[in-house]
Amino acid sequence: MENWFSSGGIYLLNNIWEKIDSEEDLTKEELCCLLSLEDPEQLELLYQKADKIRKKYVGDEVHLRGLIEFSNYCRNNCHYCGIRRDNKKIKRYRMEIDEILNTAILASHMGYKTVVLQSGEDMYYTTDKLVELIKLIKSNADVAITLSIGERSYDDYVRFFEAGADRYLMRFETSNPELYAKLHPDSSFENRMNILKWLKQIGYQTGSGIMIGLPGQSIEDLAQDILKFKELDLDMIGVGPYICHQDTPLAGNPNGTVEMTLKVIALTRIVTKNTHIPATTALATLRPADGREKALQAGANVIMPNVSPVKYREFYELYPNKICIRENAKQCNSCIKRRIFSIGRTISKGYGHSLKKKMDNAIAL
Ligand code: 5AD
Ligand code: FES
Repeated sequence: MENWFSSGGIYLLNNIWEKIDSEEDLTKEELCCLLSLEDPEQLELLYQKADKIRKKYVGDEVHLRGLIEFSNYCRNNCHYCGIRRDNKKIKRYRMEIDEILNTAILASHMGYKTVVLQSGEDMYYTTDKLVELIKLIKSNADVAITLSIGERSYDDYVRFFEAGADRYLMRFETSNPELYAKLHPDSSFENRMNILKWLKQIGYQTGSGIMIGLPGQSIEDLAQDILKFKELDLDMIGVGPYICHQDTPLAGNPNGTVEMTLKVIALTRIVTKNTHIPATTALATLRPADGREKALQAGANVIMPNVSPVKYREFYELYPNKICIRENAKQCNSCIKRRIFSIGRTISKGYGHSLKKKMDNAIAL
């Protein structure tokens, strides 16, 4: 890896700290310089600066989103993902509409004001079925709905929005188009970017994100990813480490690191200011003891507790050793509350909608 300090040294770094303090835009080179930091004191300083900006723009409240992993069937073959189509070793499951609804109601009874409906790209759930589900959840539970179900048609996205879906998550995974192409045999980078634009146009609060430490990913790629977050003007940004799954074409590659993930979270906060940034489950998987606390203290302000029925959890294996597969929704709820309170933060009672001005560009419905 290139050494970003060879030319400017400490002088350059002091300059960058000042730019962060005065909230000036950082260049790609400056982001690369910060992503290369390894000195523990300098890393601590970076996290502190991100924490300060987090406090100023999104406050001390942590927003909880109840995550329902409702199907692990997927038509795609992404090279990193454990639920890819060609993984024949995994047991597949689908939750029926009433079961998903009951799980959403349970989530709302636990105090979550958002449910995230996530699955592989599973066309068993037709547009009509999902529209019905969204309407049922909206009329039976006081929650915002986030969809995370992959690539569909423009008309589908409009129908889900009209039915009451508030938000949509779809990571672009990497902003390097060549790397994207290598990892995704079934989808194109261009199409993914177009979909993110559609989602915003339609009026969704839109989330995206990346994985850290993908095989072949460089520091420059990560700097570009962070600039991309800003350019896309996202409402939510998920950043988690890549974790190698043995039953994928990428078997044998190293995992992303906790440290690099925290650096990217911190810089994402510094660059994008008022976005919602989760402390991800993948990060907690690499560091169960305090990964999420560390993320919350380096710029993150959201946690997505798992509310999926326990009997399915082990099969939603995007990556191995996932946390919480033996716990139930109630146990995860108290675990997460304890962690949040332990670092002096509070839990939001609101929906935790986007803090950016919405609806100006929403299409007339
Ligand atoms: N390691 C870490 N994250 C993964 N995801 C998929 N597979 C892995 C993996 N092996 C992430 C992708 C996807 C999200 C739902 O899960 O970023 O967008
Ligand atoms: Fe599930 Fe801690 S969040 S056990």
